Amino acid sequence: MFKQSMLRSTLLLAGGIVLTVVVLIASEAGNIRLRQGYTEVIQSQQVQGQITSLLGELVNAEAGQRGFLLTGKESYLQPYYQALPRINALMGALRNRYADDPEALKLFTDASTAVNRKLTEMDLTLIYGKRDVEVALDLVRTDFGKQTMENARRGLQALLQREAGSVSQSLVFADRDLALSRYGIGLLTAINIVLLVVVGLQHSRRLALSEAARSELEEESARLERMVRARTRQLSALASHLQRVTEDEKTRLARELHDELGAILTATKLDMHWVRGRVQDTHPDVAEKLTRVMRHVDQGIQIKRRLIEDLRPTVLLNLGLKEAIGQLAEEVAARNQWEADVQLAEAAPPLRDDAAIALYRIVQESLTNASKYAAAKRVSIALACANGVLTLKVSDNGCGLPADFESRRTSGHHGLLGMEQRVIALGGSLHIDSAPGKGVTIRVEVPLTDAIVAPPRSDEDGSGEAPREAPAAGPENIQAAGPGHGAAG
Ligand SMILES: Nc1ncnc2c1ncn2[C@@H]1O[C@H](COP(=O)(O)OP(=O)(O)OP(=O)(O)O)[C@@H](O)[C@H]1O
Ligand SMILES: [Mg+2]
Repeated sequence: MFKQSMLRSTLLLAGGIVLTVVVLIASEAGNIRLRQGYTEVIQSQQVQGQITSLLGELVNAEAGQRGFLLTGKESYLQPYYQALPRINALMGALRNRYADDPEALKLFTDASTAVNRKLTEMDLTLIYGKRDVEVALDLVRTDFGKQTMENARRGLQALLQREAGSVSQSLVFADRDLALSRYGIGLLTAINIVLLVVVGLQHSRRLALSEAARSELEEESARLERMVRARTRQLSALASHLQRVTEDEKTRLARELHDELGAILTATKLDMHWVRGRVQDTHPDVAEKLTRVMRHVDQGIQIKRRLIEDLRPTVLLNLGLKEAIGQLAEEVAARNQWEADVQLAEAAPPLRDDAAIALYRIVQESLTNASKYAAAKRVSIALACANGVLTLKVSDNGCGLPADFESRRTSGHHGLLGMEQRVIALGGSLHIDSAPGKGVTIRVEVPLTDAIVAPPRSDEDGSGEAPREAPAAGPENIQAAGPGHGAAG
């Protein structure tokens, strides 16, 4: 479509240019002809002037001749003698003028014969007049002089008419060429106007087309952008949901482990304790074996506790976020031999379980990362509340994020992404600051809305984050001591 319209405008333009050139050439040829006609008219007027002068000189010469013959005074011959060379010069000029025009040359020859006859007639009369005036006057009285003059005049008049005819012909041609030139210019202007209109129309059509294509593209990109935003929102919601589901699942698992496995292990241990009491005196070797088995059961209980702790930190649920973060920092710092600086604002309000777990997991992942990658000597954790915003900062003084961090972040590394996701789900924001050799700081800001802060409890004792139920000291705490120790309560 676009190519077709391009081809059409190119053809139109080419046609217009060819037509313009043709009209220009025709117009220029007309101009040349006009110039020629103009020159011819001027020349013809000059010739007409020469012919008229020739006639005038003839009349002058005849007047001189007549004056001399009538008076006999030589002074009257002066105009005659003056006229003769002029007549010869004019005749020569006229002969040159008609040299290349046979038709006009014939007319001129006739006229010049008549003029020469008149000159001869005057010359003869004068020769006679100088000898005998009466003879000459008799000659003059005849009509011969009048006749020769009449012939000369007729011949010259014929030439004059011819010149006038050629002038009027030239003027007719000039008129025609002028009209042609006018029409040519008119045609040229019309062609150019049509071309301009056509090209302008096509240009505006192309502009409209490209404008339509541009707005279509803009609409498409806006649609895609909307789609991407919607997808991002969906993915974010999905990630938050998955995290919630994971936490719920962990809680469920922790409860199962505690209630089911814990009960079984405890019951097993109690029964063994009972059996060991019975056989201790009769079968000390059996009692010894049972003590070993009880130690294994103890180990199982320890493992179960650790698992529960990992799945659902009881300290977090029982003692609150600050206590849990403090204990976690202490443990991890001791394990990694870090110097730990923990500053937890007293004024922090009690948080909902979801929010507390999310923040706890963020600290946990930050410390795990620091122990895996940072090679740090010191970590600091700060929890503060100001202007309705809770700020959590975890920093290390290690090597800082690697140069290819951005590409790593999205391929198989989910720690930081998970943190971000948790913070977004809480309606907050996460910032990562790092410089090579200057460590990493994870800064989380969460607005303290009702979705984050725990509702006040009915038995509120005013002590802020009140610890929950302490872990029950159940029978599983019975020592797997040797035969001499017995069950500890
Ligand atoms: N404290 C830190 N010091 C130096 N580098 C870090 C630190 N924390 C993260 N990084 C770098 O950032 C990358 C991404 O960390 P992230 O926690 O997202 O993923 P990961 O720890 O590699 O994997 P995952 O957490 O999924 O087990 C890490 O691979 C590590 O190179
Ligand atoms: Mg990690």
